[in-house]
Amino acid sequence: MYWKKDICKVLMTAEEINEMVKGLGEQITKDYEGKDLLVVGILKGSAMFMVDLVKYIDLPLTMDFMVVSSYGNMSATSGEVKILKDVTAKMENKHVLIVEDIVDSGLTLSKLKEVLKLRNPASLKVVAAFDKPEGRRVEMECDYSGTVVPNEFVVGYGLDYAEKYRNVPELCVLKPEIYE
Ligand code: IMP
Ligand code: MG
Repeated sequence: MYWKKDICKVLMTAEEINEMVKGLGEQITKDYEGKDLLVVGILKGSAMFMVDLVKYIDLPLTMDFMVVSSYGNMSATSGEVKILKDVTAKMENKHVLIVEDIVDSGLTLSKLKEVLKLRNPASLKVVAAFDKPEGRRVEMECDYSGTVVPNEFVVGYGLDYAEKYRNVPELCVLKPEIYE
């Protein structure tokens, strides 16, 4: 495997990730029964998680995707999220579930939630595959999260470093020498 030489440890195997996603899907199935559910994946990081998760949500639902700009080096207070690709679905009166790969500082999602609330969804919740609570710069709680990860740079299962490693099927800690 091309990526083995670049990682220092595997945090979750593909099987463990699959179990985690299955559990999230089952919980979401219970919570959204009878509700008009719109699942919105934030590209590109959530792509793997999104397609796996919806297979475990045993409800009628619609899928859509957004691309948002990263906050770059903007400070916590000035950070504005820019929508580079918007959903095509109307959010009004829908139960909107945002699917994110990982929540780190919390800036992206806290800003995105502010913007999407203005569209009057019936509800607005977040599911993140991975949560890095030690990275938080603003308060941002996930309604559903798969696994808490340590404050290290992780790749795989959709998560990238410089657009690479998204196709790694396991969640791995990247060797610091790769990004230093
Ligand atoms: P936040 O706005 O700091 O919460 O981070 C949001 C985005 O940063 C995530 O959707 C990821 O794309 C990226 N990110 C944060 N931590 C990591 C990581 O450890 N590996 C890869 N991408 C990350
Ligand atoms: Mg992302």
